[in-house]
Amino acid sequence: MKFNIKSGNPEKQRSACVVVGVFEPRKLTAAAEAMDKIADGYIGGLLRSGDMEGKAGSALVLHNVPNTLCDRILLVGLGKEQALSDKAYCDVVRGAFKALHGTGATDAALFLNEVPVKNRETAWKISQTAIIAMESRYRFDRLKSQVEETKPHLRKVTLYTMNEGSRGELAASEEALQQGLAIADGMNLAKDLGNLAPNICTPTYLAEQAIDVAKAYKLKVTVLEQKDMEKLGMGALLAVARGSHQPAKLIALEYWGRTKKEKPVVLVGKGVTFDTGGISLKPAAEMDEMKYDMCGAASVLGTITAVAKMRLPVNVIGIIPTTENMPGGNATKPADVVTSMSGQTVEILNTDAEGRLILCDALTYAERYEPETVIDIATLTGACVIALGHVASGLLSADEELAEELLHASGKAADPAWRLPLWDEYQEQLKSNFADIANIGGRAAGTITAACFLSRFTKKYRWAHLDIAGTAWKSGKEKGATGRPVPLLTQFLIGRAAKKGPAEHKSK
Ligand code: BES
Ligand code: MN
Ligand code: ZN
Repeated sequence: MKFNIKSGNPEKQRSACVVVGVFEPRKLTAAAEAMDKIADGYIGGLLRSGDMEGKAGSALVLHNVPNTLCDRILLVGLGKEQALSDKAYCDVVRGAFKALHGTGATDAALFLNEVPVKNRETAWKISQTAIIAMESRYRFDRLKSQVEETKPHLRKVTLYTMNEGSRGELAASEEALQQGLAIADGMNLAKDLGNLAPNICTPTYLAEQAIDVAKAYKLKVTVLEQKDMEKLGMGALLAVARGSHQPAKLIALEYWGRTKKEKPVVLVGKGVTFDTGGISLKPAAEMDEMKYDMCGAASVLGTITAVAKMRLPVNVIGIIPTTENMPGGNATKPADVVTSMSGQTVEILNTDAEGRLILCDALTYAERYEPETVIDIATLTGACVIALGHVASGLLSADEELAEELLHASGKAADPAWRLPLWDEYQEQLKSNFADIANIGGRAAGTITAACFLSRFTKKYRWAHLDIAGTAWKSGKEKGATGRPVPLLTQFLIGRAAKKGPAEHKSK
């Protein structure tokens, strides 16, 4: 799908479909008004005869409207006339694309940039529209032998503003479009990897994907094999891999958008390509969804793709510890004690709390990059789904400034996150009688104690943790990866780039 930004009037467009909004009750937006005028009141007449109220979520396709140059007009309902919420605007745009895909239109002219949205500028509307448009077209049919011919016809989308913008405004809009498209690309990669079957998307496959990304954008990539990790003393990560026939890997992907003298942001993504629970075996129901336990890793690859695509002036390193968590004769047992790369010993009381075990060694490994900030992203706890559902990702950090910065990016990207406390009081729950620390802290505050565990390995840098167990995929009829939190992470890095300004010296 190709996107453009233009200024112009709706009635002048020779498009396959012109999209305009209608408020409730039957109140035309300026764009709809312009179409109605040229059509001698045809649209207003339809509304009066009760064909459309303008209710949020409604849509009406009109063909061959008198005097118009376009093939179709799509009226989309905006709800009551007032500034829309983020969600309402996104729902409108989503509805518009759904209706568009239901027509045979190969191109569309959207006049939705002037729809007022609370506290949002045109740039935001543009990037969201690009993301939603790309999402509306996403299909995962790679594993089907017969692909249904439901491919949308829509190939070209033009986002119009009705008033001639200044050069600055136009440049801002264009930049927002490129950012939206880069985020959408990153989300697509994250979704594809998440949706792939776990017999295909193994640790080895993830490493190959990272190598592909590195080749496409000329980045440096390193893949550590099990023997390398043994040498480094990654006893916690390797303890998880013991039950599996698939070799574990640790992937490091480096994007240097600024001089290497500047400390990088390191993103660490949990890459458990299938989580059976290990010897602490999970129940059978919905166990298939544990193929999504590598969505943290996928979001790291997606974010680096987006950043590389935009050539953002920031330094970002992605670290992905990846393994399966399987039961087996050689698997780690509850009560085993292992030594992590940091030297701290861990009593593994539950082999299903494996994410923190692979992350802790990756977090220690991150130290070699002398990071400015480290953010880990993980489908870490079922407790997070209970606390926040499928709406917000959990954010935990002892660093106020970093937490604020991430929440700000989350708001801007419309990719919700909610902060949970990370107070020392919770650390008590991780006491072990036999090692430095236990890998579980009991049922109470499961998301927080998981983060407490990780915090023990993050003393050398600013750190935040994102628990995406509830947000990385959808269950039920619409089962599938969401591509979150690629928007949040990319927006965070866009913010970092803007703060620092353009890079002076770039090194590869
Ligand atoms: N990958 C799971 C977390 C998970 C569970 C994500 C359900 C999404 C839905 C993680 O490895 C896990 O099994 N966590 C355990 C931790 C417990 C044993 C302390 C959990 O949440 O039950
Ligand atoms: Mn688990
Ligand atoms: Zn897991």
